Amino acid sequence: MTNLILLGPPGAGKGTQARMLTDQHGLVQLSTGDLLREAVAAGTQAGKAAKEVMQAGGLVSDDIVIAIVNDRLDQPDVANGVIFDGFPRTVAQAEALDELLDNKSMQLDAVVSLEVEDAAMIDRISGRYTCGDCGEGYHDTFKVPAKDGVCDQCGSSEFKRRADDNAATVAERLRAYHAETAPLINYYDAKGVLKRVPAMGDIAEIGNQLSAIAG
Ligand code: AP5
Repeated sequence: MTNLILLGPPGAGKGTQARMLTDQHGLVQLSTGDLLREAVAAGTQAGKAAKEVMQAGGLVSDDIVIAIVNDRLDQPDVANGVIFDGFPRTVAQAEALDELLDNKSMQLDAVVSLEVEDAAMIDRISGRYTCGDCGEGYHDTFKVPAKDGVCDQCGSSEFKRRADDNAATVAERLRAYHAETAPLINYYDAKGVLKRVPAMGDIAEIGNQLSAIAG
């Protein structure tokens, strides 16, 4: 069982790589972005508070996000190992995660920083879409389905694009990343668990490096 964090700006490939690790290693993908989008869609109190912040590309409050992660870590499947995708995003969240893991007798095995160039992230995000049924991620240029218009994983022909994947929101998400999340690279380096992985190359090759880290 391995628990690892994927750190990186919007478009770095956290979701893409987390799904591959889930398939290969049976790890559970814990994406706070996905959990928050589910809360928004369900109209929960947390979802109502998060909706506008997410549309503007800002960070949802630490309290809301930490509560969502705490609940998710109470589900039995996390015993298979967890990939934290998009969490933590602030030093306060990282400190809360240390405490949560301690309380739940879980350990953190590695923190992967996906190292990318900001300029390329706009292209990656504006070309992104996902299968509406199974959530498999695609890109207009970099990752197209083998058969045009048909999901490789589940055969669906329903695809969707995210409401916050527009140039203005992406610029704000990148700003938030550098201001609030990038300091976590030093936080985890100081703990001796940080691994830097160049992530501008081929998706499968980056996946091989992550797979080796996940064991
Ligand atoms: P979230 O859903 O986490 O979005 P994000 O961090 O902005 O990350 P993305 O999902 O946009 O990018 P990704 O790194 O997963 O890239 P992907 O693999 O899809 O968060 C959304 C919002 O929720 C936040 O803005 C915030 O408001 C809120 N939120 C979430 N967590 C929070 C927290 N902890 N605290 C506070 N607020 C929080 O790849 C992108 C595209 O590029 C895809 O099309 C893919 O096919 C392609 N691609 C991937 N890798 C490569 C490659 N190597 N080469 C070419 N193309 C590639």
